[in-house]
Amino acid sequence: MSLMLDFSNVMEENLGHEQGIKLADFERILERGGKIQNDLRQRAENGEIGFYKLPYSEDLAEEIETYAALVRERYDYYIHNGIGGSALGPIALHTSLRSAHYNMKSSPKMFFPDNIDPDWINELLDQIDVSKTLFHIVSKSGETAETAATTLFFMKYLKEKLGDNFYKNILFTTDPVKGLLNQIAREYPIKCFRIPPDVGGRFSVLSPVGLVSAAISGINIKELLAGAREMSVICDNSDLMKNPAFIFAAIHYMYMKRGKNISVMMPYSNKLRDMADWYCQLWAESLGKRFDVSGELVEVGQTPVKALGATDQHSQIQLYVEGPNDKIITFLEVESFSNNIPLNNYFTYINEFDYFKNRSLGELLNNEKKATELALTNNHRPNLTIKFPEVNEKSIGAFFFLLEAATAFAGGLLNINAFDQPGVEEGKIATYALMGRSGYETKRKEIETLLSRKKSYKI
Ligand code: PA5
Repeated sequence: MSLMLDFSNVMEENLGHEQGIKLADFERILERGGKIQNDLRQRAENGEIGFYKLPYSEDLAEEIETYAALVRERYDYYIHNGIGGSALGPIALHTSLRSAHYNMKSSPKMFFPDNIDPDWINELLDQIDVSKTLFHIVSKSGETAETAATTLFFMKYLKEKLGDNFYKNILFTTDPVKGLLNQIAREYPIKCFRIPPDVGGRFSVLSPVGLVSAAISGINIKELLAGAREMSVICDNSDLMKNPAFIFAAIHYMYMKRGKNISVMMPYSNKLRDMADWYCQLWAESLGKRFDVSGELVEVGQTPVKALGATDQHSQIQLYVEGPNDKIITFLEVESFSNNIPLNNYFTYINEFDYFKNRSLGELLNNEKKATELALTNNHRPNLTIKFPEVNEKSIGAFFFLLEAATAFAGGLLNINAFDQPGVEEGKIATYALMGRSGYETKRKEIETLLSRKKSYKI
């Protein structure tokens, strides 16, 4: 297997009687787990939950690779314009599998602006030549305000440079039929990739949402899918005690029941840093729900937090080791780094540095992880480790799939719908209303009335 889930440090033998989980605790929810698994399988088959199928889209990968080769020839810059599930996965893919200094030596230079701060977006314009830029507009709904607005912002410059040929520098990834991007694509011969209707934004990284930018930067997307495929088989294991998606979900579920409402993801690897960001959206948006599937008020969820080892050992760890015992921490550990140059002590008169001799930065990083893990466990703070033998396409593909499958299981255990996002939609509708979009007049009036009644406290 390309990844390993080590959950020793949540087990009673290691964490202690009060905070630890017993094998019997797992056994109590195995039967329910089996039912959830069958239900998820059924819904995947019915075309209700589409992410399970994405690792098997080898033909699509071929098509994307051919397209990516053309992009590399034709453009010097690539802008990925999307937000939320249409951006976080692609960003995590890029930063995990490409060099941090990719744009200094590779072409096309890649940018992933996933916000609408006007100054920040404007600064980006200084970095590119619009006429040599491919603008990849990624939106499942095809109408999210942020993505629409930045598209219009870039259009001004595209129109100025290319006139009616502006469409040649645009690529859409969107729903097969619905949404405003499809209306534009009916007017202009814009290339479109499709997000399957049964794949939600935060589960879409292994669709064209993530695969296109990855292929353009030379990531081997077939290997990525192969890693995800391998993991999809492992996560389909009916022996749930050997199924890492179930185990991850079950542990988090059991701790949620015990009041641990914070889930920290802490990669000990800069390359995996944005994976924690991707996980935060996946876990928060999928599991943070007011009602369960039968409409009962439950207000469940777990607040995801991202941290980075070793950096945050000097920031957050004090709180995690000694503060409220309300968290479960997942470390991401890399067994083998690509560069592990041995250190030497150049200051021979300082014996205290000798312990670095013939040791590497990677060894220090992993020992620091071990030290943090020990400190947490000794203080009865539950923690898990997902171990990457190395960071490569296979392990990254496997990781995406594992966490998506775990989220689906966790949704089942919490008895909520992990695949909708009514809270996000509420914010989107309020934005349309506040911006004066037609069709949202009633909502606008409602908001104005609410605001007029608001009591103000300001100093
Ligand atoms: O996971 C989700 O559904 C959301 O985070 C969406 O990805 C996000 O709101 C962007 O939506 P869209 O891709 O429709 O523009």
